[in-house]
Amino acid sequence: MGSSDGYATITVTVNGDRQTVSVDVRKALVDVIREDLGLTGTHVGCRTGDCGACTVRLDGAVTKSCLRFGASVDGSEITTVEGLSDGDTLTPVQQAFWDEYGFQCGYCLPGMLFCSTELLENNPTPTDDEIRHAINGNLCRCTGYTGIVRAVRHAAAIADFTAAMPAESTTALLDPMPTN
Ligand code: FES
Ligand code: FES
Repeated sequence: MGSSDGYATITVTVNGDRQTVSVDVRKALVDVIREDLGLTGTHVGCRTGDCGACTVRLDGAVTKSCLRFGASVDGSEITTVEGLSDGDTLTPVQQAFWDEYGFQCGYCLPGMLFCSTELLENNPTPTDDEIRHAINGNLCRCTGYTGIVRAVRHAAAIADFTAAMPAESTTALLDPMPTN
């Protein structure tokens, strides 16, 4: 990373594309994504980490991008909501949100999709309480959450997420009561 006059040059891999941009060091990552990388599917809501509209995956971790400086992610891999689908082929979670009316305006969708996907990768058969717990850092002003919970349940039914589970979780699934 180079820097001068309040700007830093960072190189990131965004949705599989390696990009180098010069960013204002005061800018939050969400603004770098929207303004410098041109990916406006990542939304700005509260800027305080409460609403989840700005959620992305940063080096694999679900992250609220309003809480990070863009200049701090040099060398990272970022997936935004635009990077979830394979062209016109939706992920099972996206398809389930579409099928089950899991969104209306879509403002909350980045956070809902990333948090639901992360949940299912770690717990492919969640209860409704576990779904509600997983999405509780995301505010939806439209749906009343019922369609969202239904959508996550539907995603669990239409796809096998066990392949994405971390090794220790898979072991726990196969052997729910390990002896040591
Ligand atoms: S804008 Fe980041 S959590 Fe609300
Ligand atoms: S669909 Fe509008 S905020 Fe959730």
